[in-house]
Amino acid sequence: MATDDTTYRWVKDGALGPGRMRYGADYNPEQWPREVWQEDVRLMREAGVNIVSLGIFSWALLEPRPGEWDFGWLDDVMDLLHANGIDVDLATATASPPPWLAKRHPEILPQTIDGTTLWPGSRQHWRPTSPVFRAHALRLTRALAERYADHPALVAWHISNELGCHNLYDFSDDAARAFRVWLQDRYADLDALNEVWGTAFWSQHYGEWDEILPPRAAPTQRNPGQQLDFERFSSDAVRDHLRAENAVLAEVTPGVPRTTNFMVAQNVRDIDYASWVDDVDFVSNDHYLRPGEQGRDDLSFWANLTGNLSGGRPWFLMEHATSAVNWRAVNPPKRPGELVRDALTHVGHGADAVCYFQWRQSRAGGERYHSGMLPHAGADSRVFRDVVDLGTQLRDLAVVTGSRRERARIALVFDYESWWVSGRDSHPSESPAYDVETLRWYRALLDLGVRVDVVPVSTDLDGYELVLAPLLHVVPAALRDRLTGFVEAGGHLVTTFFSGVVDEHDRVWLGGYPGALRSLLGITVEEFAPMLPDERGALSTGAEVRDWSERIARIEPDVEVVASYRGGDLDGAPAITRRRAGLAGGSATYVSAAIDRRAAKELLHDLGRDIPALTPDPLAAGGSVDVIVRTGRGGRYVFLANRTDDEVAVAAAGDLIAGAARRDRDDALVVAPRGVAVVAQTRDALPA
Ligand code: GLA
Ligand code: GLA
Repeated sequence: MATDDTTYRWVKDGALGPGRMRYGADYNPEQWPREVWQEDVRLMREAGVNIVSLGIFSWALLEPRPGEWDFGWLDDVMDLLHANGIDVDLATATASPPPWLAKRHPEILPQTIDGTTLWPGSRQHWRPTSPVFRAHALRLTRALAERYADHPALVAWHISNELGCHNLYDFSDDAARAFRVWLQDRYADLDALNEVWGTAFWSQHYGEWDEILPPRAAPTQRNPGQQLDFERFSSDAVRDHLRAENAVLAEVTPGVPRTTNFMVAQNVRDIDYASWVDDVDFVSNDHYLRPGEQGRDDLSFWANLTGNLSGGRPWFLMEHATSAVNWRAVNPPKRPGELVRDALTHVGHGADAVCYFQWRQSRAGGERYHSGMLPHAGADSRVFRDVVDLGTQLRDLAVVTGSRRERARIALVFDYESWWVSGRDSHPSESPAYDVETLRWYRALLDLGVRVDVVPVSTDLDGYELVLAPLLHVVPAALRDRLTGFVEAGGHLVTTFFSGVVDEHDRVWLGGYPGALRSLLGITVEEFAPMLPDERGALSTGAEVRDWSERIARIEPDVEVVASYRGGDLDGAPAITRRRAGLAGGSATYVSAAIDRRAAKELLHDLGRDIPALTPDPLAAGGSVDVIVRTGRGGRYVFLANRTDDEVAVAAAGDLIAGAARRDRDDALVVAPRGVAVVAQTRDALPA
């Protein structure tokens, strides 16, 4: 990744990078007769499409028989696109191996936790650790790189596709071998591993490395340390595949930027993308809207995290949907305005490219009911009209490209390992979910009307005024020290229940909860008190509690009780505490219960009395608008995303450069229901 402020490694002769917003989709012409390709490029031009991801699932047609290449059709597509001014993010095509490979080498097929083989007939039926698969994938990667190295349409490489989407957890013998190597690398000796996995428990002590297996289906609860290391290993194993393809491309086409599409979203939680960022020239991400009331904020949350994984630098939205997907239980279409709103919200969080899965909705295959830019109904359709409209708006937003997400004063920490571990079985409760809890606090901040950065836990917290770390369950000593240092330097920390409880091996910190954070927070919890599904509790503030409460048995003399439990066994016990720490005016707040979003907002509002970062932004119109800001050489661009189904009037100065909004008689900006208005506030006024 580029480390300086202004350059991207993804600029290749100006073909990809600042200057114009990228717009396009996955393009799968192999699903259609050639006549259709002509109509495709005509309509792509009409929509303003300037880039497509090509060849993602083409292996079986590019190498119909072992070692026999058929690049002719792809040559024609590349030429056709280039002739029409459309650039190509060319896939290495390794995501879905052809049937002949599985027939010849069934040992590439992944195995699930209970030993079930995942057969061909779908996609991604390969073991990330299979040396046989790896060799074939690299052969294809090299052949494509050599063939298209100098093709004028090629502007970026798309390595595999959504690595680990379906095959992240493979429990095969290949995986077992690779897992042992990974463990030897991490622990060097077996005694160390036995110690941190706590193998004295249930007679699990290992005497030889080759006794260790992936945590396959077992009679009952599996070893938590083994599970966590297997999750880390699996994330790394798929990254190794990325690195292997990357190395071939770097050798053959060193000047062409490389990426792979992340899934920084709720669908796949088990990849630690913060550790992948240095392996791509630019971050790209896929996101699919969650239907329902929280969907918009959920999109904003993940786009926000993606922008911060990318270090504030622009990134590439590789896939989202124009309307419905096909893989949830119920797949409603997008509501009017949502197609443009979703795209512009991603742009606000730093996307300089807006792409979809996929260009033309498939006629056959498992994704035939998944929306595309060009639906089954054809170009005379609501979706295609919206697609053309968005293309126009993205042209108007060219000025925004190259600018960065403007840093907020509040950080919401997102920790992949706390996500994995807090959701483990054999816990006090299955109910609290890390992604739900973090989203709840994000929404409470938006409700209050303040801006926040969702940041990976490894982010340097210096410079933030307030850090929220909900359900920060896994706290190694180094993280404890960082958070303590942050508060001692004058920062404010808010954390919630079940935080600080375990170390990096999922071993409990002793002496009472919240373990590693106990002395920073100045409290001791002796017992968790999770609640049954239909149970409800209350706090002195009126907040409703469900799912989780805790008995705070002791507080230090300098700890203030902000709220207590009302009723039930915990009646009168402290529920929310705050300790002012250090001479620099910092504080550490603990919320021991799962409180609702309204109560979270009220708490933040009250904390705002001495945390200026919690002062609502007038542009947020009382929480109706999600205010997202990018800044760059050309100016400051404020994205005002209407969170409601009604018009919202905002007293926003500046030029309206895109979006669904108008100025009213009083010169207020009226943002349409579910609309996003983009305002350039100080264009050309910032120092160069
Ligand atoms: C993922 C894949 C695409 C497609 C979409 C459907 O993002 O990368 O190939 O399957 O899901 O939503
Ligand atoms: C059974 C087992 C014990 C222990 C308890 C836990 O009784 O015999 O080893 O696992 O369950 O409830």
